[in-house]
Amino acid sequence: MKVTVVGAGNVGSTCADVLAHKEIANEIVLLDIKEGFAEGKALDIWETSPIASYDSRTIGSTNDYSKTENSDVVVITSGLPRKPGMSRDDLIATNAGIVKMVTENIIKYSPNSKIICVSNPLDVMTYCAYLTANFDRNKVFGMAGVLDTARYRSFLALELNVSPKDIQAVLMGGHGDTMVPLPRYTTVGGIPVTELIDKDRLNEIIERTKFGGGEIVKLLGTSAWYAPGAAAAQMVEAIVRDQKRVFPVCSWLEGEYGMNNIFLGVPVILGKNGIEKIIELNLNDEEKDMLNKSAEAVRNVMNVLDNMQLSV
Ligand code: NAI
Ligand code: 2OP
Repeated sequence: MKVTVVGAGNVGSTCADVLAHKEIANEIVLLDIKEGFAEGKALDIWETSPIASYDSRTIGSTNDYSKTENSDVVVITSGLPRKPGMSRDDLIATNAGIVKMVTENIIKYSPNSKIICVSNPLDVMTYCAYLTANFDRNKVFGMAGVLDTARYRSFLALELNVSPKDIQAVLMGGHGDTMVPLPRYTTVGGIPVTELIDKDRLNEIIERTKFGGGEIVKLLGTSAWYAPGAAAAQMVEAIVRDQKRVFPVCSWLEGEYGMNNIFLGVPVILGKNGIEKIIELNLNDEEKDMLNKSAEAVRNVMNVLDNMQLSV
């Protein structure tokens, strides 16, 4: 299996590192526009292989897409990250130009690949990649829900002093402050979380989750990379190993949840064909209302992209 990660910055190089350490692909291409940067990161990861005992080959490339030829999965992390005071949407103009150009190159060399977008603003950059690639909807999707759910699960694990492995949760909607964690679908070793944490405290944890990206930006002066890189690698693993994992994934909706022509985080089954099925939950009125508000926020930014007429 061959996996390309475009953007060898914080998220991209972390993703490549996780892919190599877990031997998720035997060939990993890291590509960046900055001269020598991807080659340096790829070499450093390769030089770790005797120590960590893996044999995935990591190859760097400065903007030479011929090296990405016939990739099975491509992860797009190229673009600017958030700086303090910036919203994800501030990034739209610059990152849309980058994502469009990157996607054009990807499809030229890997017309049968699955594309996972990570660049922000996530839902709209995934839309940009989808319009540019012109692939079926099961083959172009975005990573946000795996990260946002991981944050939610990690906070719950701290609160209850239990292993994060035992916390399962569904989180839907856009990758922004309107995301929709769903306590009704959150369990701790099979026990509904609502039986273990009172409503007010749970709401505090949900609020922390919604602003989890911003919490890291405030601390670091740039956005997170360990959890985002690992989250993208986990999605790659589900595809290349045909695991049929159930993850929240930013997906193009065609009637699901009563919505059309929008990218939004929903639970899916992820396997060798990319998104193999979108799972439709029976949401109650309050949950539907939150999802609709999140969709409205995403649609506003999609409209910004549409009005930019990037000729995608
Ligand atoms: P970074 O600045 O460390 O890395 C970005 C890399 O992209 C740089 O090395 C840059 O040279 C490269 N790049 C820029 N234009 C390029 C082009 N045309 N072709 C190839 N490479 C190009 O940023 P970081 O922290 O890795 O974040 C990357 C993106 O991921 C940002 O947009 C960030 O907001 C987003 N992000 C999304 C998350 C999610 O949950 N979806 C989570 C964390 C970050
Ligand atoms: C995050 O959630 C900024 O989207 C990025 O960490």
